[in-house]
Amino acid sequence: MPTLSLRADGPLTGRVTVPGDKSISHRALMLGALAIGETVIDGLLEGEDVHATAAALRAMGADIVREKPVASMAGGRWRVSGVGGLLQPATALDMGNSGTSTRLLMGLIASHPITATFIGDASLSARPMGRVTVPLGLMGASFAAAPGGRLPLTMIGRCPAVALRYALPVASAQVKSAVLLAGLNTPGRTVVVEREATRDHSERMLRGFGADITIEDTPQGRAIGVLGEAELKPQAIVVPGDISSAAFPIVAALIVAGSRVELTGVGINPTRDGLLRVLAMMGADIVVTNRREVGGEPVADLVVTASSLTGIEVAPEIAPAMIDEFPVLFVAAAFAHGATTMRGIAELRVKESDRIAVMAAGLTACGVRVEELPDGLIVHGGGGDPVPGGATVAARLDHRIAMSFAVLGLGARAAITVDDASPIATSFPGFVALMASLGAYCPV
Ligand code: S3P
Repeated sequence: MPTLSLRADGPLTGRVTVPGDKSISHRALMLGALAIGETVIDGLLEGEDVHATAAALRAMGADIVREKPVASMAGGRWRVSGVGGLLQPATALDMGNSGTSTRLLMGLIASHPITATFIGDASLSARPMGRVTVPLGLMGASFAAAPGGRLPLTMIGRCPAVALRYALPVASAQVKSAVLLAGLNTPGRTVVVEREATRDHSERMLRGFGADITIEDTPQGRAIGVLGEAELKPQAIVVPGDISSAAFPIVAALIVAGSRVELTGVGINPTRDGLLRVLAMMGADIVVTNRREVGGEPVADLVVTASSLTGIEVAPEIAPAMIDEFPVLFVAAAFAHGATTMRGIAELRVKESDRIAVMAAGLTACGVRVEELPDGLIVHGGGGDPVPGGATVAARLDHRIAMSFAVLGLGARAAITVDDASPIATSFPGFVALMASLGAYCPV
C-alpha cells in the first residue's frame, strides 16, 4: 500500500485548476449513453470511479472514447455514442469503490429488460443498497443481494416499469437520481419528493439533454418529475472543477500561515457550496470572483488566504450541501479557536467509510481533542497552533479520509502518515502533484 505524508515549510502559493466534478462526470456519461448520437464531454474527471461508470456503460452498448491526451489537470475530451438504450451486459459490472456509479446505474437498468450483477471492493460491498432497491423494486425491478441488501447484487430490470411518486426517506442525491433515471424509460411521470435540497446535477443535466423535467415546491418538499419514454438529444458538456476536490487545497491554504492560493473554474452550485458558507462563518478569507455559468452549472474562481478561524455550531440543514466535505471541515476545525459542533450528519457513517468514526480515531491519534456523537462530531480547535501529529492514520479505502489527513499533516508539528493513499485515485488523480505545485512536499 503506498503511504502518503505531506509537509509544508512555508506558505502555499499558486494558481491551480482542480479536476472535473465527479457527480457531473458520471451523469454526463450516463445520459450520453442513453441519447442517440454523439455527446462530447470536456473536462471529464479521469478518476477510477468515473472509469467504472464508463466501463459499465460500454458493457451495455455505449461507445465511449477519449479523444486525445490532454496534459492539463482539467481532464480530456471524451466522446460518448449512445444507442438510445442499454443492452444486456455479458459479465458482472465491477463498480470498484464507487457508490455513485452503482446506485445511478441501478436506476438506469431498473427500467430496461436487463439482468445485471454488481460487484465492488470491500468498502462498496459494505454500503447499504436498500435505499435504492426499495424504490426501484416498487417500479418493478427485482433484486437478489448479499445479506443486509449489499453487494454482490443481481438485479432484473422491468420493461415497462411502473411510474412512481416517491418521498425520499434520506437526503440523498444518489437515491433521487436513481429513481429519476429509472423514470426516463418508464411510461408516465415519475416523481421524487425531497424534504431537503440535495445536489441537483441530475435535474439540470436531464433538462439540458431535452427531458421533460418539472420542479414544484409542495408542502412535503421539492417535487421533481421526469416524463418517461424520453428521447434524449446528445449534448456538448463542459464539466466544472469539483468543489469537493477543491476543498482540500482550500483548507490547506487556510491553515498554513501566509498562504494565498487561487483556484480557477470551481463549481459553486448552491446545492454543493455549503463548505464555502461554513468556512466564511468561521472567519475564512475566501473571495469568490469571476462568477459565470459553464455547462448549465454556476462556476467561479476562488482566492483563499490563510485565516484565523473560529469554531461554530454548524446548522444541520446545511449538511446536504457539503456532505462530502465534512472530513476536511473537521481538519479546518482542528485549527480554529474554540469548538466546532457538527450534528445531523449520521449519513457520514455510510460513506466510503464510517467517516465520523474514522476521522475521530485519526484526529485523536494526531493529538486533536474530539467528541464523537451518534450523529456528529465536536472538534476542539487548537486556536491556530500546529496540531501535534506524529501518527500513522488509517484511510480505510476512503479517498476523502486519505486527503483530509494529508492536509492535516501540513499543519502538524510532526509528520502524519496516511497508511494507504491509493484510494485518492478514485476522485482526485494528481492530488499530490497539485499540492506540490503549491509548495507542499512529501518527506523522504
Ligand atoms: C453523490 C451524492 C452523495 C455524495 C456522493 C456523490 C452524487 O451521496 O456523497 O459522493 O453524485 O449524487 P448521497 O446521495 O448518498 O448523499
